Amino acid sequence: MPEVSLATASPHIRHGSNIGQPLTRRDGILKVTGRARYAADNLPPGMLYAVIAGSSIARGRVASLAVAAAKRHAGVVEVMTPANRPPLAQDPDEKPNPLVFRLDLLQNDRVRYANQPIAVVIAETLEAATEGAKLLSPRYDAEPARVRLDTEQSFVPSMVGPGFPGVVDHGDVAAGLAAASHRIEATYETPAQYHNAMEPHAIVAAWDGGRLTIDTPSQGMAMAQARVAALFGIAPEDVLIRSPFLGGGFGSKGMITGPQVLGILAARLVGRPVKLVLRRDQMYGPVGHRSPTRQTIRLGTDRGGRLTALAHNATVATSSYDEFFEPTAIISHALYASPAISIAHEAARLDCGTPNFMRAPGEATGSIALESAIDEAAFACGMDPLAFRRANYADVEPVSGKPFSSKALRECYAQGAERFAWQKRKLAPRQTRDEAGFLVGWGMGTAVFPVVMFEGHARAVIQADGRGIVETGAHDMGQGAWTALAQIAADSIGLDLEQVEFRAGTSDLPDAGIAGGSSHTATAGTAIHTAGAQAIARLAALATADERSPLFGAGNAGVTARTGRLFRRDDENCSESYADILARAGLSQVEGRGSGAADPAAQSVYAMYAHGAVFAEVKVDPSLAQVRVTRLVGAFAAGRVINPHLVRSQYFGGMIWGLSFALHEHAAIDRRSGRVMNADLAEYHVPVNADVPPMEALLIDEHDPYVNPLGIKGVGEIGITGTAGAIANAVWHATGVRVRRFPIKIDDLLA
Ligand code: MOS
Repeated sequence: MPEVSLATASPHIRHGSNIGQPLTRRDGILKVTGRARYAADNLPPGMLYAVIAGSSIARGRVASLAVAAAKRHAGVVEVMTPANRPPLAQDPDEKPNPLVFRLDLLQNDRVRYANQPIAVVIAETLEAATEGAKLLSPRYDAEPARVRLDTEQSFVPSMVGPGFPGVVDHGDVAAGLAAASHRIEATYETPAQYHNAMEPHAIVAAWDGGRLTIDTPSQGMAMAQARVAALFGIAPEDVLIRSPFLGGGFGSKGMITGPQVLGILAARLVGRPVKLVLRRDQMYGPVGHRSPTRQTIRLGTDRGGRLTALAHNATVATSSYDEFFEPTAIISHALYASPAISIAHEAARLDCGTPNFMRAPGEATGSIALESAIDEAAFACGMDPLAFRRANYADVEPVSGKPFSSKALRECYAQGAERFAWQKRKLAPRQTRDEAGFLVGWGMGTAVFPVVMFEGHARAVIQADGRGIVETGAHDMGQGAWTALAQIAADSIGLDLEQVEFRAGTSDLPDAGIAGGSSHTATAGTAIHTAGAQAIARLAALATADERSPLFGAGNAGVTARTGRLFRRDDENCSESYADILARAGLSQVEGRGSGAADPAAQSVYAMYAHGAVFAEVKVDPSLAQVRVTRLVGAFAAGRVINPHLVRSQYFGGMIWGLSFALHEHAAIDRRSGRVMNADLAEYHVPVNADVPPMEALLIDEHDPYVNPLGIKGVGEIGITGTAGAIANAVWHATGVRVRRFPIKIDDLLA
């Protein structure tokens, strides 16, 4: 494990006292008893309620709004439209960098997607604001909406996702396909999907002169703070964001959205605190979604089932006015060995809100297509799908040729397959029925997700009473950050968990980086680890330089920290408490600061990914074609496990998303209006308990000395990859029908 770099040699910190423990969420009791305060639970004195009026057309302009009628309604205080919206210091259509997304903040009368905010009604009660919004009776000059991926002129984006090249060519794909003994070519389609976090986007905004306090869910408080500060022309320090709990985010709370900023504008307009909460149906438009994709995959294999070529072409959507390109095909240059690989993205502009990061953006959409294609190729070669994947195992990252920092995928395959009893699988489809006559199918998929790290910071304090405080502005979306990071915090300063006050969730703490890209534990955890190490190093320097200390002369590297004491490494009977060290030095505390970020030197040498293998069983009613997933086994290797209970919970969550992708989620767009027709959780299907089978997630040991000092990879998003394809492949294995348009529906199987 690389040394933590400090001015002095580092004391030894023993991990394992807290790290590795299967603790339940420390905030769990608060949540189940309703005491956890979410953004919309805040009610500052004098607060008003704001309700957005959204466009019912997807393209055109607002011709008129009955503002006077709305204002006459009892309880309505103000109606905000482009005519009276307070000025902004930055044009919401300005795009200083690719990660700043254009917002609809009532800058003009243009409509660019359905559900775009066109006015905000502010009232004494939610009911009055809702009624007022209805009374606006907008009239439009509508233009035909462009909603279909395949009817538009496409173009080649220069970059996809956050900075990946959209086109990669490696080796001679045409020659590889020409030389192949088996070839498959297939086109897969995935629909628009919406994040649908349990907690809708919400904000309570309160101005105090030029200072702003907002309670709002955020996966990236520092980014949100900077964006709000730029829009309003104030200093970032004058924006305080409180985001202690999120009811899910899935990427949609990574950047502050238009509706949240409208809440701030409304508060400015009326000079009182304002609460604005989106209704569920209002979340289908202005707060991001996953782009639909159409993907064509061509694979060639030799007689032994080894790939000779892999070509993955994807068409994705972006909005008419901004750019986000789902990096769908990038998975194909990370996973399977092939002498020739090409990927290419094209994009089409649609009249929709700008797509955004959503639950393994790119990997999820790409994975279901690639894993389906691999399954098709295996069958074409007459090979078992697992044997086929083993035959095409990438020992180095395929295109770059870099070695992996660690890759325990072989162990994932072996242990997952054994647990599932995969060896009993019949090669041909539609061979197995259960005792009730249902068709039984088994499928598998490989899971993969890159190791991402943003930049994060932390502060660790050891106080005169021997207790610790660790601070970082981390975000708990429900994934358990408050628990896992507190475990790292306690170990970083050698204290029991109960001895440490862990502070997170507000923007006045050190920036913890973004809770996205499955990177939060790695980033904020590394920052905490280095901050704690620095605090301990300072404490050790005090003790080992002092003749009165039993640790005198041991040197920093000669001591170890645990349970509130420093011990001599060469004599465990020789120790001193933190409190005694500080008391003798006459100090009230020692402090350490640390940061976590990707190491470019290590990244230039190594390819860094988490891996896994997912095995699925489905049962299909032969007459009704209803599909039930009856078993899911995932085996994942993602470096060091900070909390096995929470990590398993993340894998389960990801596997449920995968099930959702394969069989449920689909935003149905009305071709005439461009509106999402199923903009609610009744008809936008997500799996409920009855849809989710017993699941197993095996944690495969993996030691990675290169990703970061603690060896942490991400666990949040990998579970969706592999799983969606495994289920699709199991449906084919059960029925013999290959469905290439997702989600798989009953009518596809009956056709
Ligand atoms: Mo995730 S889509 O990076 O929140």
